[in-house]
Amino acid sequence: MDYKIRTRISAILVDEKVKPGTKVTLLGWVRTIRIGKAVSFIELNDGSCRSGIQGVAETDNFPELKSITTGASVRMKGELVESQGKGQKYEVHISTIDLVGAAQVDFPLQKKRHSFEFLREIAHLRPRSNTFGAANRLRSKLAYGIHKYFQERDFHYIHTPIITASDCEGAGDMFRVTTLPAENPPTAKSGGVDWGKDFFAEQTFLTVSGQLEGEALATALGDIYTFGPTFRSENSNTSRHASEFWMIEPEMAWAELDDNMDLAEDFLKELLKFTLSECADELAFFDQWIEKGLIAKLEAVVNNQFERLSYTDAIKILEKNSDKFEFPVGWGTDLQSEHERYLTEQVFKKPVILFDYPEEIKSFYMKVSEDGKTVGAMDVLVPGIGEIIGGSQREERLDVLTERMKKKGLDPDDAVYQWYLDLRRYGTVPHSGFGLGFERTLMYVTGLSNIRDVISFPRTPRWAKF
Ligand code: 4AD
Ligand code: MG
Repeated sequence: MDYKIRTRISAILVDEKVKPGTKVTLLGWVRTIRIGKAVSFIELNDGSCRSGIQGVAETDNFPELKSITTGASVRMKGELVESQGKGQKYEVHISTIDLVGAAQVDFPLQKKRHSFEFLREIAHLRPRSNTFGAANRLRSKLAYGIHKYFQERDFHYIHTPIITASDCEGAGDMFRVTTLPAENPPTAKSGGVDWGKDFFAEQTFLTVSGQLEGEALATALGDIYTFGPTFRSENSNTSRHASEFWMIEPEMAWAELDDNMDLAEDFLKELLKFTLSECADELAFFDQWIEKGLIAKLEAVVNNQFERLSYTDAIKILEKNSDKFEFPVGWGTDLQSEHERYLTEQVFKKPVILFDYPEEIKSFYMKVSEDGKTVGAMDVLVPGIGEIIGGSQREERLDVLTERMKKKGLDPDDAVYQWYLDLRRYGTVPHSGFGLGFERTLMYVTGLSNIRDVISFPRTPRWAKF
């Protein structure tokens, strides 16, 4: 069979480039088939857009229809005509139909509503469902929108290592990378494993963030961004944490915390604008089936300013409402997701940027404020999700940075930090950046409430199937 000639359903239904009367060849998967006495109907979906198209054939003339069932792949040729039927603009009057790959009768995606839990068990087939088809197409578009945003603003796209010896967040939630045998690894004189005998002759891990290396590039190229996978072995079984997720990390030289907040707000708004204009078909689907009012919500975000609030002021609000929370709240405590969501969902009802966090609860690389008690950190919180962005101005002063590292129990003389400190030894500059969680962004724009449903093959504690 020759598959080169093909009309994508999106060309007919979304772009409307193909007009009625045209002979089309469609390649796709059967969603439903109804064999009637006189006429039969096949609904075909090819993944190019949300909608499928209906093929119509006289039953007697096409005995091959009998072997076609839901899930089968077929080639359908025929004339595109305006449909008399309800709910569709066009249909195809079939002239030939070829079964390419039959589907066994136990094909699990029958045309009915399946639970998301069930669909996660068949993550290899769920892209063929409406929801996951739309989620994957939107993911692709959004990735493009992210590159477009930064490329148009002269940020350089850089690639940071996946395997690394440094723990950027200092939280210790890292997956070890090793080629040493699990049983009887070589031991060091001092006891424990001799990592010097490992592949890289030192301990290595999957990266939790590309930030540190991003800083090296930003302090050479000016403005950069990364967009890549990151890994955390944090044992959080929530609907917003994945063990493998994608992060977008811009880093700007010559930029302070305010510039960072400005970029974060502008970037999120522009990304939503892009989604509203470029993914209208998918958004309409999510608005109808997943989160009513989704489009209006996104439009409101685009058209309103984010609330900017210091951590200290946020704590004052939370303390007044402490009876509403499970976890205690007070100056110096890390905010729990219930606190973050209360601020963004109940108090301000829009995205909120919190800034100037207590030094004790934030990473070693953040810039110490004049008061000595806070650092130039900022988090962007959005309704329904909580934290979507985490960022900061970086400590560019060598002496302050090394002191703070010591305070946090990190050894500034450790070989793994030398290159990072070099950035402060040679031509240091104020610089700032942040990380946007790609999956959390997708949750926000689709209304899908579980992170497992916005990445094709999620990795979470006790789950690495597929
Ligand atoms: O706040 P985080 O930990 O910040 C950093 O990693 C910085 N080094 C980024 C930087 O300044 N360049 O993570 C940034 C964002 C979070 O706001 C959240 O959206 C997402 O990454 N994120 C996760 N998404 C899914 N699953 C997880 N386990 C996540 N952990 C963080
Ligand atoms: Mg964070």
